[in-house]
Amino acid sequence: MRPTGSEPARGRHAGAPEMHPSSPIPVMGDGAGLGAAIRRTLGDTDLSVFPLALGSSVFGWTAQVDASAAILNRYYDFGGNFIDTADSYSAGRSEHIIGQWMSRRRNRDDIVLATKIGNHPDNPGLGPVAMVRAVEASLERLQTDHIDLLYFHLDDRSVPLEDTLGTAQWLIESGKVRYLGASNFSAERLVEARILSAAGYPRIEALETHYSLLHRQPFEGDLGLVSRGQGLGVMPYFGLENGFLTGKYRSRADLDGSTRAARVARHLNRNGLRVLNALDAVAAEHNAPVASIALAWLLAKAGVVAPVASASRPEQVDALVGATAIRLTRAQVVELERAARA
Ligand SMILES: NC(=O)c1ccc[n+]([C@@H]2O[C@H](COP(=O)([O-])OP(=O)(O)OC[C@H]3O[C@@H](n4cnc5c(N)ncnc54)[C@H](OP(=O)(O)O)[C@@H]3O)[C@@H](O)[C@H]2O)c1
Repeated sequence: MRPTGSEPARGRHAGAPEMHPSSPIPVMGDGAGLGAAIRRTLGDTDLSVFPLALGSSVFGWTAQVDASAAILNRYYDFGGNFIDTADSYSAGRSEHIIGQWMSRRRNRDDIVLATKIGNHPDNPGLGPVAMVRAVEASLERLQTDHIDLLYFHLDDRSVPLEDTLGTAQWLIESGKVRYLGASNFSAERLVEARILSAAGYPRIEALETHYSLLHRQPFEGDLGLVSRGQGLGVMPYFGLENGFLTGKYRSRADLDGSTRAARVARHLNRNGLRVLNALDAVAAEHNAPVASIALAWLLAKAGVVAPVASASRPEQVDALVGATAIRLTRAQVVELERAARA
């Protein structure tokens, strides 16, 4: 088996123009492939990832098969290589769509593939039998023989962590999984897992957690402290708060027809609008979309390797990948955080 994502950047960006580090990057035309030059190492692994992971919970939900493939193409053709899915997304359809797309594009070796187990109704939890079955099912849907980063989707306190990590060790030794990540784990459980790794169990290398300008705890508390202390690669999700931090919802009327209306509505208040105003100001200074600034703020945070964000249409991808070219000044970070303090 060949390690994925660990090779130096390929030549997909050859001939791309020199860019000012802070200017928005073109995604099509001269910008195509530019992102292949942008890679970060994920935690203490040899995975080398584009610093914006493409979320895929929308595949089979708000993006059907053709739209999903177009979104994947747009991201990959720009130079993105980090795809985030889960066995439970659209009851497995997300993994299936990604598997078909990789098979068609013949690009499995170019992709760092992250999936999650533990939340699929057929194989719930993190007990040994469910884990092995879940991984086998994911491998089949993804049409691959290995998962680069396997997350435990949710903590499962009904199973001793030793059993979960022991099963993960077998999955790693059998070549089905390369590295482990934890999603929605508490700081305390990460500490417990690290203590077990000192006794020979495999290490958790990555953390996926809810973190955005509108949801700063627990990452800015003990979770961030522990993940930095352990050198985990952090992948924040909901950095766009279901689209609210793209700036497209400013009033109740904007919610009409949105599949995400119920999730977004709770941000339509003074606090949410104050954060949008601050994002507007910083976006104007960079001549960049509001969504890019919300994600660039995450990228300015210690420990963050790659926010996970999704698009329901290919053209939305541009603002996501564009975040990776934006360097916020210290003053801009302070301005955003002052607005975000409730
Ligand atoms: N580990 C976990 O427990 C967990 C939990 C949640 C999510 N995740 C991961 O994180 C990913 C991101 O979460 P998410 O997709 O639910 O929400 P999100 O990233 O906060 O919001 C993404 C949504 O915002 C809208 N959007 C994105 N770019 C836009 C643009 N440029 N202009 C306008 N609208 C734009 C799109 O929805 P519309 O077009 O429909 O408005 C898109 O689907 C998921 O796909 C999944 O991979 C993980």
